[in-house]
Amino acid sequence: NEGALWGGRFAGGPSPELQELSRSTHFDWQLALYDIRGSHAHAAALEAAGYLTADEAARMHAGLDVLADKVRSGELQPRPSDEDVHGALETALLDEVGAELGGRLRAGRSRNDQIATLVRLYLIDHAGVIARELLQLVDALVAQAEAHPAAILPGRTHLQHAQPVLLAHHLQAHGWPLVRDLERLRDWRARAGVSPYGGGALAGSTLGLDPALVARELGLDRPAENSMDGTAARDVVAEFAYIAAQIGIDLSRLAEEIILWNTREFGFVTLDDGYSTGSSIMPQKKNPDIAELARGKSGRLIGNLTGLLATFKALPLAYNRDLQEDKEPVFDSVAALEVLLPAFTGMVATLRFDTERMASLAPEGFSLATDVAEWLVTQRVPFREAHEISGALVRACEERGLGLEDASDELLAEVSPHLAPAVREVLSIEGSVASRSGVGGTAPERVVEQRAELVARAQAA
Ligand code: ARG
Repeated sequence: NEGALWGGRFAGGPSPELQELSRSTHFDWQLALYDIRGSHAHAAALEAAGYLTADEAARMHAGLDVLADKVRSGELQPRPSDEDVHGALETALLDEVGAELGGRLRAGRSRNDQIATLVRLYLIDHAGVIARELLQLVDALVAQAEAHPAAILPGRTHLQHAQPVLLAHHLQAHGWPLVRDLERLRDWRARAGVSPYGGGALAGSTLGLDPALVARELGLDRPAENSMDGTAARDVVAEFAYIAAQIGIDLSRLAEEIILWNTREFGFVTLDDGYSTGSSIMPQKKNPDIAELARGKSGRLIGNLTGLLATFKALPLAYNRDLQEDKEPVFDSVAALEVLLPAFTGMVATLRFDTERMASLAPEGFSLATDVAEWLVTQRVPFREAHEISGALVRACEERGLGLEDASDELLAEVSPHLAPAVREVLSIEGSVASRSGVGGTAPERVVEQRAELVARAQAA
């Protein structure tokens, strides 16, 4: 069992089938540099407690630095006989600094407290990458909103025409969930910044090592309060996977609209050539594949989360090997978002809106009927009655093939004596949008105010 981290109590080596099943280097090698950072911190704790002389510690750190260089250059790779990243790196360290010194590093630590710490370090780094990419997407939405201050969109509920809104209001409505995702990542970081290192296998160490020193060296906030919880809890992984899934869902909802807007029937947007794809058979095609991949990957992100939750749900304390199954799903979620977000941002930043088409459709579907009802309320008609009157006007216009704005004075009067010709003042799309001027409404000045707040919140997160 060459290079293994265990073996003394075994008469024979592991079977090839077990080795095949047990091996994790094909995915946990991604943690190699974090493992080395952990080893630097642990060596400092060993030195502080008197288990390494200053000279030994210096040689240890130098050896670890060489390993890190070799990992970065690709010169150091796990061998088929290595079970995991920890064993592979210990073998390499023994080669680098000799068995006598290299053999001292494992004192007082376990792969259990190591792996629990490394996955946090990895996720904290990638949370930073994802947050930066998300911020760029928010910026792209904000830039599009700014570039179209007056454009009108038929706002929908149930995918049916409901009330006209500013395109900017709609785009910013997609910005807010992303801002909350940024805030979620920030809140998650406070819980992720706990270091299980020093918990050993589960119960702590007899050697008087200082877990707070290790936490500090790793840039984490504090050591785990409980060594069993530290080594066995993975809610920090599940919570990250939830945030990743939520980001996926938020992208997917916008993606779905872009796909619809890009159809011939809607005709609201044109995708930039650089951010759309062609067909291998139909020469005319230009497809919204980025949006579709966003929609598709959201399913995968949800699957990673549910898989993790299922893995964790019945694990007794403390460490169980089942926990090795947390890595691939969460690594996959990270990889999916890191490749998706830049492409998605590029697609959004380069969208061209057909604002005339959108504006021309905005009055359709009697989308100003609520404005009529609310105008009647200003004329002291109770809303219950106003709603009936406006509904009757819709029916009368529909029967005659008219829009609300086309109704004659006679028709208005026929539907209700309350419908004076002055109601036409509210029968314009611009007037309708401008009059929704309460906080959070779609009136242009409110949308501008809201945008400043959106940007401030995104930058603060
Ligand atoms: N590869 C394991 C994991 O990812 C860590 C090693 C712990 N192995 C063990 N036999 N206790 O969780």
